[in-house]
Amino acid sequence: MCGIVAAAAGSNIVPVLVEGLKKLEYRGYDSAGLAVIGQNGIERVRSVGRVAELESASAATHSPTGIAHTRWATHGIPCERNAHPHVSGAIAVVHNGIIENYESLRQELSAQGYVFTSDTDTESIAHLVQATLQDEPDLFQAVRLACQRLVGAYAIAVIDHSQPGRIVVAREGSPLLLGVSDTGNYAASDASALLQVTRNMVYLENGDVAELTADKVRIARLDGTPVERPIHVSQLSAAAVELGTFRHYMQKEIFEQPDALANTLEIVGGSKTIQPGIFGADAGQLLAGVDSILILACGTSAHSGYTARYWLEAIAGVPCAVEIASEYRYRVSVPNPRQLIVAISQSGETADTLAALRHAKELGQPKTLAICNVPESAIVRESALRFITRAGPEIGVASTKAFTTQLAALFLLTLVMAKVKGRLAPEQESTFIDQLRHLPVAVNKVLELEDAIEVWAKRFADKHHALFLGRGRHYPIALEGALKLKEISYIHAEAYPAGELKHGPLALVDANMPVISVAPNDQLLDKLKSNLKEVQARGGELYVFADADSEIPESEGVHILRLPEHYGELSPILHVIPLQLLSYHAALVKGTDVDKPRNLAKSVTVE
Ligand code: F6R
Repeated sequence: MCGIVAAAAGSNIVPVLVEGLKKLEYRGYDSAGLAVIGQNGIERVRSVGRVAELESASAATHSPTGIAHTRWATHGIPCERNAHPHVSGAIAVVHNGIIENYESLRQELSAQGYVFTSDTDTESIAHLVQATLQDEPDLFQAVRLACQRLVGAYAIAVIDHSQPGRIVVAREGSPLLLGVSDTGNYAASDASALLQVTRNMVYLENGDVAELTADKVRIARLDGTPVERPIHVSQLSAAAVELGTFRHYMQKEIFEQPDALANTLEIVGGSKTIQPGIFGADAGQLLAGVDSILILACGTSAHSGYTARYWLEAIAGVPCAVEIASEYRYRVSVPNPRQLIVAISQSGETADTLAALRHAKELGQPKTLAICNVPESAIVRESALRFITRAGPEIGVASTKAFTTQLAALFLLTLVMAKVKGRLAPEQESTFIDQLRHLPVAVNKVLELEDAIEVWAKRFADKHHALFLGRGRHYPIALEGALKLKEISYIHAEAYPAGELKHGPLALVDANMPVISVAPNDQLLDKLKSNLKEVQARGGELYVFADADSEIPESEGVHILRLPEHYGELSPILHVIPLQLLSYHAALVKGTDVDKPRNLAKSVTVE
């Protein structure tokens, strides 16, 4: 997970850059670098390995203006040549995120004579800014115009030796904030890197471009319209995680999902293919003999497993069962040594899941894989293979970003299994990888529905029950929506596959029972529409999350919100987001303790 620090001040900023990078080390990285505006040009120092090595290597470097970076390899192996900053002429750039159109930019810029010396997507940004400077010599305007051509998620910082004292930064999808003070102005991926110099933070929004000098900050939108962003005084203690502009950790974590997904998917990098090795060095050998999969998990993590079952059977053709860990560990089951046991857990310490994993091993099932957000956790340590989701710390008790990153990991597992089974054509593989890579951008668009969802949530103020409906791979998303609503708003909620309605739950439907339906435009849409008619005919109030092209009209008692993109197999990852937002805002209306709902704990380390 890459980290950025930038500083423009009245005195030497190299120690600030290095200290800032040290604070970002927790994000994970394999190389580090910095560039400053020196006497005779850009001075760049890069090293593979720890920030401490960069610190020694840059001991003789001095400048009042510079940028720095920790890189977690995506496009190209970890080596000095691929480490940031990347340079084009007099400019240097650091970048966090994934540029989706870097290949076409690379071709275009190579044809103009720009020489690429790394395998990274970032180098295209450096040359693109340089090319833009030929017609628009002002660095701020050139970066703004160059960003208009970037597709993907990014946070960048740029310096230009011919325009000393200035840093231009921009963000779209990846985090970036500014630190402002009387002695200098700064930018970083998170506040912890800047507390050494200031507590006054300005959170940039997607589509913002900012210019920093030692005594001034200006911000504009990508179209050039100037904007003001408020200053927040950070209350961050050394150990805590910053809440920033958000009211609750749950809200913050919902909005961190584009970045959490981008970070989790960095492991695929710029590649068009995917290899078993992303699950561990022995994965190729271990997965080759797998004849079926058993997923063990609890709560939200089990819901990601239920979703994956649809993918694993449909795409990889591998029989898959999902079992609640606390049930599996106590029942008599038939062991199958060729079966892959997948333990899914955000914390990696959930007692039931850990016990179920140990139980499977004791039964003689050695093929185990942990999908987990905490690398040093027990579940990871005790599994043969591992995939670490890179969601970052999840503080809110209700799991959000851990869930969507688990889904991304499970989709990668599906692709690997499909490949192992010889069921994945190269074109299909590359299409799926492109869709995965585009997810952060797609999720950002869904998050724009928040205001409309807040309006819906107000109607839940006097409700005591709710019903969630979904079909196929979106049925587990309905389950997750119901779990979110009940755990934080205390509204009793149940989820059903929509086709099951007429077998009992329809008896509950009346005007006081809101029915929330996940309605993507897939092959089950027509069937779902009939189920929705059954609810409407009983006077039920329907809240439908449809795709833009789902063609369900709004009518009396039928409220529709449309997701901007129709996302095929990966659609569950988008469709859960409005349900998270609905629960969050319903809980606010109810006045509950959103981040610490009654009776619940974040990490359930007891049975
Ligand atoms: C619900 C929630 C819980 C957890 C469950 C498993 O929002 O967070 O249902 O998903 O307790 O926890 P982990 O994933 O840490 O094993």
